[in-house]
This record gives sequence, structure tokens and C-alpha cells, in this order.
Amino acid sequence: MAFVISGKELAAAKKAAMTTEVENLKEKYGRVPHLAVILIGEDAGSVSYVKGKEKACLELGIKNTTIRKPSSITEKELLEIIYKLNKDAFVDGILVQLPLPRHINQTSVINSIQVDKDVDGFHPLNVASLYLKQPGIVPCTPKGIIEMLDSIHYDLEGKKACVIGRSNIVGMPVAKLLLDRNATVTVVHSKSNHIDQITKEADVLIAAVGKPRFVTSDMVKDGAVVIDVGVNRDSVTNKLCGDVDFEQVVLKASYISKVPGGVGPMTISCLMENTIECFLKHMEEKND
Ligand code: GUN
Repeated sequence: MAFVISGKELAAAKKAAMTTEVENLKEKYGRVPHLAVILIGEDAGSVSYVKGKEKACLELGIKNTTIRKPSSITEKELLEIIYKLNKDAFVDGILVQLPLPRHINQTSVINSIQVDKDVDGFHPLNVASLYLKQPGIVPCTPKGIIEMLDSIHYDLEGKKACVIGRSNIVGMPVAKLLLDRNATVTVVHSKSNHIDQITKEADVLIAAVGKPRFVTSDMVKDGAVVIDVGVNRDSVTNKLCGDVDFEQVVLKASYISKVPGGVGPMTISCLMENTIECFLKHMEEKND
């Protein structure tokens, strides 16, 4: 039976330290970090994610402004909102909740966010920094996943890691972070053949595919470390479930994360960290 890596507990421990840090920042700089979140439309998942981000800001003492707009907003109007936030010296981080309505070009929106306010780490310059191992903002979910592996003191060097999914938000950046830890990384995706044969070889399996219970125990190596990034709705129970069939895989893995209470809380705590990082950079620039 696998040990369950609790993202919820790890994030709670980080929260305590960050709350103190924010108090100290207020003392030192006379204001707290400020995160602006833009939510377009009413997508239930996005609404719930944004609520989680607002709650975390409140708990840590980070200032939060959420701008809610209907899905009828034009791309130009959205870009104007981002332009104003870019110019606002009292805004440290800008996050546009994805996905966006189809009539809005996601790339144009991401590219319009000032790179030093890009708390998601999605701007091309932050992506380039990650790939070139230069300082920059690291995307929250991949960063949280590595912290979960670090929490069990897992040495990735020489290990076979398999990432299921090749998104810009999770699959690709987490593959790079695993590679940076000297793992041998394979990324499988919707066009891969014999996925199960590849996943079965993996010492570390990261499931970021977006399909409920996609990873079954026959796809998992005995004693593997399994991290579940999926957030899906079970069509029968309507409850949240991951990409991994937890009940089966928990019996085969050595470590496993759960949904909910796994990667989700780590993503939020890394977002708070990134917001503090952007704030500190702004404060340092001001003093230069
Ligand atoms: N939608 C799903 N995950 C994310 C994320 O990490 N950031 C943003 N902005 N939108 C998302």
C-alpha cells in the first residue's frame, strides 16, 4: 500500500511560513504583494479555481483583486484591462484564468502580460528562462509537483520518469524540471502508441492527461511514485476525481498523490510564492 503524499498538508505548512513572510514584507515595504486575477465567463471549474486563489490570498494577507467579465468581452477589451494592470505600480502579479472563450486568442493574451508580473510563468520569456535554466517565474503546478517529490526526499537522478500529457501548463514544463533533476524523461500524449508499455517502465509517473481514472494499475510499475494532476468530474457520482484510478494504483505504487488534496493545493501555494517573488523583484527594482 502506497504512502499518500498530501499536497494539502504540505501546502498548509508552507502557508504558515508565507503568512509570516507577508507580515514582514508589509513592515519593510509599507505594502503587501498584490495579485490581480481575471476571470472571463462562468465556467464552473474556473470559478472554483479562482475562489481557491482568492481564499489563499486572504489567508496569507496578500492583496487580491479579481476582475470578473462576461464571456462576451472582446479580445481588445481584455487586452486593455491587462494593459492597465501592467502599468499599475501597485499590482505585482496578473493571472488570467484559462481557458478563455474561443473568440479570444489565448496566445495574444498571455503575451500581453508584462513578464515580471506573469505569476503563471506562461509568458514566452519565462518559458525560455525555464528551458535555458535562467532565473524566471516557474509555472505553479510543475513547481508544486517537484516540491511533492522533494517532500519524500526522492532522488530523481537516473530514474525513469514518464509524463502523460504535453500541455504548456503542466506536461512540458514538468518534463523539463524532471530533466533538470537528471531523470530520464519520456512524454507520452494522445498520439503515442502503446502508452501502457511506456508508463509501466516508469519509476515516476506524472498523470496530466485530463481523463478520469485513465491510469489503471496495469499501467504502473510496482513501487512507482505516482503524481495525479487530473481534476475531473466522475460522470456517475459527479465527485472530483483524478487521472489515476486511486483505489487500484494505491495498492501498487510506493507513493501516490490524491485528488482532491494533492497537486491542487500545491499549485495554489506556488502561485502565492510566485506572487511574493514578483513583489520582491518590483521592490528591488524600485530601490535600484
Ligand atoms: N487553468 C488551469 N490551470 C491553470 C493555471 O495554472 N493558470 C491559469 N491561469 N489558468 C489555468
